[in-house]
Amino acid sequence: MATMNRNKVVVVGAGTVGSTVAFGLVSHGLCNEVALIDPMAERALGESHDLDDGSEFFERHVNVHVGDYADCANADIVVVTAGRRPPQGSNRLQELGFTVGIVGQIVDDIMASGFDGVLIMVSNPVDVMAWYAWKRSGLPRSQVLGTGTALDTSRLKTIIGEETGLDPRNVGGFVMGEHGDSQFVPWSTVSLGGKPFARFLSDNRDRFSSVSTDELERKTRDRGNEIKDAKGGTNYGIASTVAGIVQTILWDERRIVPVSTLLDGEYGEHDVFLGVPTELRANGANEIVELELTPYEQEKLHRSAEIVRSYCTGLL
Ligand code: 2OP
Repeated sequence: MATMNRNKVVVVGAGTVGSTVAFGLVSHGLCNEVALIDPMAERALGESHDLDDGSEFFERHVNVHVGDYADCANADIVVVTAGRRPPQGSNRLQELGFTVGIVGQIVDDIMASGFDGVLIMVSNPVDVMAWYAWKRSGLPRSQVLGTGTALDTSRLKTIIGEETGLDPRNVGGFVMGEHGDSQFVPWSTVSLGGKPFARFLSDNRDRFSSVSTDELERKTRDRGNEIKDAKGGTNYGIASTVAGIVQTILWDERRIVPVSTLLDGEYGEHDVFLGVPTELRANGANEIVELELTPYEQEKLHRSAEIVRSYCTGLL
């Protein structure tokens, strides 16, 4: 009898982000099994029991339990959320010193299990961590990705929705580059209601006179820090992003998502992970969509690539 396709996801890190990721997986019934790994075994146990207690009211019962790295051997996806509550006023690149040592050991432990699924990096600086995990794991490029600018893209659409009063799902387009300060919006490729964004605004000047693309971009870029200043860190937005990526992969949905993936010549860049529109399939990150960027937008992408590459130097 053919083996049932038993979807299994391992979440490394049962802190605020990791446990919220697990909640998204369990409450939406995205997989059959979730294993939680955390150096604080008591916390992982508490989170797994707390998650399990809602099963009566979930889409379906998901086997959620405390795990160890042996659980990665037959996992389809491993999500790495290790990190700390970022210090006030810091930017994501400044987390590198704290995160890289932890992530290196985690990747070694995952690979020692014989893992051959898709590795999703969440730990910041996520583009640098995705590159580092790809190099250290030896997995094919399709099987290592970071959440990239998928969260920033959702934030952009949400903020456009707030400013225009329209449903965010009317917006087409992506935030690209670093999941950080050098991210940018290639406005020439953004649409609203099927029209180029700039044209939509100019055709409705009376209604949207106060909407400015610079201000929308600034609000998007600063959203993570604003939330961090208000509540100490973020978790729902990033966890929802991970759940969406996991679903697209497990269900082979073939959605185009701006995850952080390896550029190997695309957009003229090499040896760097950046948030670019990427086709996600059952085997992970596939074709990169090369948008027609203006020279100004292309330069923004190159600047982002230079910054991320500079933080990868010397890590191995
Ligand atoms: C964020 O922007 C955690 O970097 C992530 O919310």
